[in-house]
Amino acid sequence: MLEQGSDLTSVAAVVLAAGKGTRMRSRLPKVLHPLLGEPMISHVLRTLRQAHIPAERTLVVVGHEAEQVRAAVARYGPYLTVEQTEQLGTGHAVRQAEAALAQMALANPGAAEQVLVLYGDGPLLRSESLQNLFASHFTNRPLVTMFTAQAADPTGYGRIIRDAATGDFQAIVEETDLTAEQKQIKEWNPGIYLFRAKWLWPALARLQPNPRKGEYYLTDMPGFAVETRQEAVSTPVQTLLVNGEEVLGINDRLQLAEADSVLRRRILEKWLLSGVTITDPASTYISVETELEPDCVIEPNTHLRGVCRIGRDSIIGPNSILTDAQIGANCKVLASMVEYATLEDAVEIGPFAHLRRGAYLEQGVHMGNFGEVVRSRIGAGSKQGHFSYIGDATVGPNVNIGAGTITANFDGANKNKTVIGANVKLGSDTVLVAPVTVGENAVTGAGSVITRDVEPGTTVAGVPAKPLPKKAQPI
Ligand code: UD1
Ligand code: CA
Repeated sequence: MLEQGSDLTSVAAVVLAAGKGTRMRSRLPKVLHPLLGEPMISHVLRTLRQAHIPAERTLVVVGHEAEQVRAAVARYGPYLTVEQTEQLGTGHAVRQAEAALAQMALANPGAAEQVLVLYGDGPLLRSESLQNLFASHFTNRPLVTMFTAQAADPTGYGRIIRDAATGDFQAIVEETDLTAEQKQIKEWNPGIYLFRAKWLWPALARLQPNPRKGEYYLTDMPGFAVETRQEAVSTPVQTLLVNGEEVLGINDRLQLAEADSVLRRRILEKWLLSGVTITDPASTYISVETELEPDCVIEPNTHLRGVCRIGRDSIIGPNSILTDAQIGANCKVLASMVEYATLEDAVEIGPFAHLRRGAYLEQGVHMGNFGEVVRSRIGAGSKQGHFSYIGDATVGPNVNIGAGTITANFDGANKNKTVIGANVKLGSDTVLVAPVTVGENAVTGAGSVITRDVEPGTTVAGVPAKPLPKKAQPI
């Protein structure tokens, strides 16, 4: 009797990612080619997590460039991996997972009673569809539940053969093995299967290589289930129709570009329908992990990469590139680059500002053209209007950073800190030779080179800068 777990905790996933991806014509393993800035396989792993299959119950079969793929996968969670040293086909690849899943079941009884197999080159699957597959499997309890899709021209994909009279599933036939008549079949195999483990493992051990290609085809398994139908199982193979666009398999770079545009459009649609204005969707690129608040505006030619957050009523672009940027409400980022940096509310930057890692601009900061900030905090209301560089600095509130101001933070060996107090006015072309502190309310003259700490409230000027006589001090 094939008893089986009947909930999600009994499902373990096997992601096949050992192939070379010959048709990509690339040195990079296929599953690491990026889609919206993330390796293809990361999209597959995210879909699994969203469908409540965590990293601990997901096994990735690696092979070609195994170490590179392992390292990439590890960035997304404590994924298990197993190596397929020779790529002898998708059926052979799944066999490599058996021992590891048995281990998993020892540590966590019940886990891996159902084995979901999917391919690392199908990054567009939505978690909702996967959940439908699970629900169908647990309701109908077949040996295998699998998706099928319909297409006018499914060339290249395995085709679904059905009994002409009953319409019952019979087998999957790979493109190279199709008869002329079978080539007319529009129903194809997306390559996503949920197997009952107790049936899968012994059956897989009996799988024979494909006579034409010599590879072990996983696609023979559903047909096998029909042939070896068991008394207790009324329907050995349950199929479920899925939207073909979701299961596009990527074999070459043309398909990669197609998948990228599908994913991109999906994300744009989500944000457009949730209250974000995207002036020109065709030239806007938004990563999967980015979050936008309603009423923010994304202008043309803008890229939001990695994990960005954009607050209400902020206007980003045109022509801006943001990576892991945290942007508050009511900000403006015009033709600028923001990387691993934070803007509080009502900050305006650009055109041509460059915020680098660790730049933090407090509320109301204004930064004009050719400003660069790295590893620095700029206090509320401070202004940095024209070409300047602030690195490794803490700048207080209401500071005016004059045109051409430079923190000379690097002495050839170390990065040194600059501290600028509240309300300081740095004259044009001030060079701050770090480590150095400018006390609050101090003023530096145009062209000053600050090599020593400046006392609060004083005015300094010259090279190296010295305090001006009292009569020259501002009132
Ligand atoms: C496969 C299916 C086909 C289906 C299509 C859907 C088989 C035999 N055919 O064809 O029916 O319509 O996907 O996209 O399964 N892999 C390994 N080890 C191997 C061989 C492959 O891990 O030894 C991995 C690859 O890295 C890839 C996946 O399995 O991620 C699928 O392999 P691929 O060669 O792309 O199969 P298709 O020819 O696309
Ligand atoms: Ca493929």
